[in-house]
Amino acid sequence: MTLINENFIKIPATYLFSEIAKRVAQLQQQQPDARLIRMGIGDVSLPLPDASVDAMIKAAEEQRHSSSFRGYGPEQGYDFLRKAICENDYHARGIKMETDEVFVSDGSKSDTGNIGDIFSADNKVAITDPSYPVYVDTNAMAGRAGEPGETGAWTNIVYLPCNEANQFVPQLPTEAVDLIYLCYPNNPTGTTLTRDQLKKWVEYAQEHKSIILFDAAYEAFITEENVPHSIYEIEGAREVAIEFRSFSKTAGFTGTRCAYTIVPRNLMAFTRNGDAIALNRLWNRRHTTKFNGTSYVVQRAAEATYSPEGKQQVKALIAYYMENARLIREGLQRAGYTVYGGINAPYVWAKAPTGMTSWAYFDYLLNEKQLVTTPGAGFGASGEGFVRFSAFGSREATLEAMKRME
Ligand code: MLT
Repeated sequence: MTLINENFIKIPATYLFSEIAKRVAQLQQQQPDARLIRMGIGDVSLPLPDASVDAMIKAAEEQRHSSSFRGYGPEQGYDFLRKAICENDYHARGIKMETDEVFVSDGSKSDTGNIGDIFSADNKVAITDPSYPVYVDTNAMAGRAGEPGETGAWTNIVYLPCNEANQFVPQLPTEAVDLIYLCYPNNPTGTTLTRDQLKKWVEYAQEHKSIILFDAAYEAFITEENVPHSIYEIEGAREVAIEFRSFSKTAGFTGTRCAYTIVPRNLMAFTRNGDAIALNRLWNRRHTTKFNGTSYVVQRAAEATYSPEGKQQVKALIAYYMENARLIREGLQRAGYTVYGGINAPYVWAKAPTGMTSWAYFDYLLNEKQLVTTPGAGFGASGEGFVRFSAFGSREATLEAMKRME
């Protein structure tokens, strides 16, 4: 008799964004003429930068000829891309980074989900609440979350509430935790931490020998000065943090798929005997065993985002979405909503009308206004009473959505 991983029957039956897609499909069936505006999942609407498309065409052409054809590449990514990442995303900000600390992948969803492979199931995990659902779900699948309680909260996860009362700045845990998930700029609330606030987490991790899993997928959307783009801007972070970055939102790669994870060489975790082991070595072993590399063509497309024209084009994409974010933020405020985020992130976190739950308000917006949002409660208990608006739609759709809200 084959036994299943029973953790899978403890988690909610569907992934958050699959549940939303199901409800949207139902509405489309009932009201085929509904003029739906999608502000739910953070999927981009603008096409890839020309520089990336040109690079893909060139790379595809190379694949046509035996002289330039490439089969399996290095699992960790081609040197040309790892170098471009080090130079542009780190050295340019005065951060030390070597190519063998960069692991190119097909997305931060996979990386933040898979990173748990290299950590013991006995680690105590702390996760900001609300958060990108992958963090909680994948820890639950691995048996690290304990049991789901009546409210949906897992017994073995230390939740770090981010709410209006603390201005969305999580408090340090009062008990010792081993793994800490932080996502800044934050998905879903769109809020940020200042350098000093992030420094406290680095100090906590140093003191407790914890590891911070820092999801920086939205760093390119930062507009304010005092907001760190990388956790490695904080002194000592190389000894306590893994960082995740993605081309998905930055350069429109949601369908093209490319991201990377930084595991510094001197980042250590421990055996039960207390021996320090380099996580770079473990992640390299995991990555080379379970992943065969991002396609050559896609890596050339990602490299092209760092060319002078690529940088200009990426900047224009980001400016477009951030103008949408401004329109959403101000449109909702004019309509009387309390909103957060949307200044350093492409998400606006809006408070539902008093007394309405996130899902009730989500359903109302879907059925009455034909607007698809994401219910805050889907990101965790502290998201209850909020919905998230994504700024990744077209300008026209964004303006129309705000007209419907006002
Ligand atoms: C989101 O909407 O939270 C993200 O687009 C989901 C993802 O990146 O997988």
